[in-house]
Amino acid sequence: MSRRLYRLLWDTAYCTGITPWDYGEPPKELSILVYNGYIRPCKAIDIGCGTGNTVIYLSKMGFETIGIDISGEAIKRAFNKALKEGVRCKFIIDDFTDPNLIDKYNLEKIDLAIDVGCLHTILTYNDRIQYVNNLNKLLRKGGKVLLWSFTRGFPGPPGLDPEDIKNLFRDKFIIKLSMKFWWRIRWARFYILEKIS
Ligand SMILES: C[S@@+](CC[C@H](N)C(=O)[O-])C[C@H]1O[C@@H](n2cnc3c(N)ncnc32)[C@H](O)[C@@H]1O
Repeated sequence: MSRRLYRLLWDTAYCTGITPWDYGEPPKELSILVYNGYIRPCKAIDIGCGTGNTVIYLSKMGFETIGIDISGEAIKRAFNKALKEGVRCKFIIDDFTDPNLIDKYNLEKIDLAIDVGCLHTILTYNDRIQYVNNLNKLLRKGGKVLLWSFTRGFPGPPGLDPEDIKNLFRDKFIIKLSMKFWWRIRWARFYILEKIS
């Protein structure tokens, strides 16, 4: 599928309001980790941030947050929400699998990356590898990735099994937590990964 078509599909979903993944709030696991102090205010990015629920939550909790999404429609909604709530955060409309992404925006190192259902929608192995390459460049050593992903199956996006995650993140990250849960329509996993080199 071409990039333009891929982007158009996401834009169409946001324009038509067919966005069953958009719960209007950040995932419970994240708010529990922040509440307990396991995750403290730091520089964070939300990859595939959609309409900004997690970006806005983290910014309110004192994080310096960037949200990136391939869909301009999603970011438009995220930006308006942030404006309405008087929250300071940064949004980028772009493809996180773009090999030039980090240089293009001169992005500084971050401490925390969040992905609530983005990586599991990325269709090709090469794009997934490029996603991990960008993440690796962007995250400082010791930085954490919180990842929510369907396991392989139907309906919806392709999904990733634990073996896929191990392969994609091998060498540079360790998996600190891998927790199975039922995510509305399908089995999924919540991962905490840490960058080790
Ligand atoms: C299932 S939605 C989840 C959105 C948001 N995280 C949430 O929980 O509401 C996946 C999001 O990833 C975005 N996305 C998909 N592929 C992307 C890519 N290569 N780069 C950036 N964003 C992407 C889509 O536009 C969409 O907003």
